[in-house]
Amino acid sequence: MKTYRYDATRIIDGIEGAAVGLALSESPPGAPGPGQVQVRVRANSLNFVDLACLSGAFAVDGRIPLLDGAGEVSAVGDGVSRFRVGDRVVGNPHASWLAGPPAPDASGVVLGIATDGMLAGTVTLPESTLAHLPESIGFEAGASLPCAGLSAWNSLRGGPARYAVAPGSTVLVQGTGGVSLFALQFARVMGCRVIATTSSSAKADTLRALGAYAVIDYVQTPDWGARVLELTDGIGVDLTVEVGGPNTLPQSIVATRVGGRIALVGIVGGMGAIDYRDMLPINHKVLTLFANGMGSRRDLEEMLRFVDVNAIEPVIDSRFAFEDAASAFRHFAARRHVGKVVISHAS
Ligand SMILES: NC(=O)c1ccc[n+]([C@@H]2O[C@H](COP(=O)([O-])OP(=O)(O)OC[C@H]3O[C@@H](n4cnc5c(N)ncnc54)[C@H](OP(=O)(O)O)[C@@H]3O)[C@@H](O)[C@H]2O)c1
Repeated sequence: MKTYRYDATRIIDGIEGAAVGLALSESPPGAPGPGQVQVRVRANSLNFVDLACLSGAFAVDGRIPLLDGAGEVSAVGDGVSRFRVGDRVVGNPHASWLAGPPAPDASGVVLGIATDGMLAGTVTLPESTLAHLPESIGFEAGASLPCAGLSAWNSLRGGPARYAVAPGSTVLVQGTGGVSLFALQFARVMGCRVIATTSSSAKADTLRALGAYAVIDYVQTPDWGARVLELTDGIGVDLTVEVGGPNTLPQSIVATRVGGRIALVGIVGGMGAIDYRDMLPINHKVLTLFANGMGSRRDLEEMLRFVDVNAIEPVIDSRFAFEDAASAFRHFAARRHVGKVVISHAS
């Protein structure tokens, strides 16, 4: 069994500012213990937070990387009741959040960060962490969905309050990363109108092909919030899926309608401080800002059913072989991807 681990002595060349790299080792897999399931991993995908792990933002040295992975059950331990050998499965990144709203006892155990993740030929997990992968969803698509898909899903479903978008709602998404493209694809199937921002005209074509009603170049139009207002008859969008962080939040506040909602998801636009004057419209417009920490296993199961029934195809930017995982990290760190960067394991 081949396993990658974060290793502070082997920084991957070409990734600026990395504090840890990757080391590959080989050892026979042990038998799964009671309640555990052994999974032969067939595909993984990368997320922005994996770059934060490389940068030393979390104490991950020695851990198996990656939140996302899909594969086939190769062995089950005593007492396992939900899975059999050969079942197709995907891991929920929040290993101990099974259902319901976020709570202290369900939080914190994130695969690839606080505990071993999915970048190995074989992984052993508690059965409660795994969900069945529908037949229609391939391993690469399955591996692309948990982290980014769940964040998009729970942004649209309204977070713990479950104040979901309705058909006919207008949703704003930002850029062409994993979360934003899933939010666009899911919102279209839910009957919403989607306005998207991006930094390049080539990427704008992808956004339109996925069903965006309008695309705004946020580099050429730095006050894109005003452009969103023009596109919505001066009203603003019902929901903004905010992946940019402090450098985009003020424009997101402009772009969102009175009584609207902003799902606070990420920081791809970089860190920084916010002038409180830019936050005041939250009060005037009675906005609701809410977060999601991906989701529970129940959320993952519901999202997988939605993807299955609606035949949604995740946008896969590129695929790398498991043996060349360092190149996948390098490509993802170059920040030119559209959608998901996937690692495939030989069958
Ligand atoms: N809270 C959660 O549970 C959760 C879960 C998943 C992800 N996240 C967070 O959500 C964010 C997105 O994750 P991801 O995996 O989708 O990232 P990603 O795939 O790495 O996103 C990359 C894209 O971000 C876009 N971008 C960069 N700066 C931008 C800006 N100023 N305005 C608009 N778009 C910008 C770029 O799109 P263009 O090239 O088209 O401009 C780029 O392609 C990350 O911060 C991640 O940590 C949070």
